[in-house]
Amino acid sequence: MTEAVLPEVAAFQKFKIGFDPRDKKRVFEYWDDIFTSQKWTEGKYTQLFEEKWANWNGAPAVAFSSWAGGAMACMEYFQLSGKKVLVPTNTFMATPLSVIKAGAEVVFGDCNREDLCLSFDSVVKAAKEHNLAAVWLVHIGGHLAFDTKRIADFCRANDIILIEDAAHAHGASWNGQRPGTFGDAGVYSFYATKSISTGEGGILVSRHAGLIEFAKKYRNYGKFEHVVHGLNYRLSEFTAALGAVQVDRMDEIVAWKNEVATKFLDPVYANRVKFPSGMVSGLYKYIVFDRIENSTGRVYDKLCHTILGQSGNFANAEWVAQNHWCVPLYYAPEISL
Ligand SMILES: Cc1ncc(COP(=O)(O)O)c(C=O)c1O
Repeated sequence: MTEAVLPEVAAFQKFKIGFDPRDKKRVFEYWDDIFTSQKWTEGKYTQLFEEKWANWNGAPAVAFSSWAGGAMACMEYFQLSGKKVLVPTNTFMATPLSVIKAGAEVVFGDCNREDLCLSFDSVVKAAKEHNLAAVWLVHIGGHLAFDTKRIADFCRANDIILIEDAAHAHGASWNGQRPGTFGDAGVYSFYATKSISTGEGGILVSRHAGLIEFAKKYRNYGKFEHVVHGLNYRLSEFTAALGAVQVDRMDEIVAWKNEVATKFLDPVYANRVKFPSGMVSGLYKYIVFDRIENSTGRVYDKLCHTILGQSGNFANAEWVAQNHWCVPLYYAPEISL
């Protein structure tokens, strides 16, 4: 395919952390306050970050030092050890590893070609063949899985726990509903390449008050009663302060990326992931199905069942692994649109 020439907007094609330089001042003010307070962990900025996130997400939130902390808290709270958990093979190894580390068994499932995410059909098939206790639904690329609502209804009707891997899904919504609120819980990552970032970090959201309470203890060795056996997944106050600032900028970052996509990319890349009506993607990735030269590569080109040495027929995931590319799209507010 002929490469698109986009000289006037080339700056958005160079990797940049999803952070607005105008926010440095407020980050430094918060950090100054933290230095003065002598409270570098478990303080008011962790709480502020959680409150702001919960407000954006529409569900209570617990901050962690990584996605993994939130994921493991879910695995333990829902007592999945020894049980079967469906995981799409087209995901990052973090998802199946959380299941394995929890002493549960991974059942792999296929995805759709259109959205790269776990398909409704694969959930129904796996539930027929296995006694599934839970499903990890991964929102790949920044949009919500197109089958999210059907999968959530099916899981609810069949007493299957649904956990959303929202590691990529900052800023996404579907008719106003945010990731992590369709199922029983959702877990985000703030790793350095994400749409918005704190360098390292994660956040868990859930409508279950019991899980929220459990997660706060889980990230802190079960303090103080030690009934919950977690480890240290606490976020430092400095990171939490960065997170609190990032949440306030998130919708603007997402709107900016969407404007660039609509104005400059969509007219060039007809063969791309196209979102259903009412869905907003955070556009962590802009995914096309034609080979392009100027690509940041694929979201995943190795399927997890293959990495783990398992066999299986996942025709759509095999196709997706070979046939998608990411067009670079990074937040660069200095470009006037
Ligand atoms: C789909 C998915 N799940 C989980 C993770 C793990 O996140 P973290 O690195 O914050 O533990 C990632 C990381 O990039 C991811 O892409």
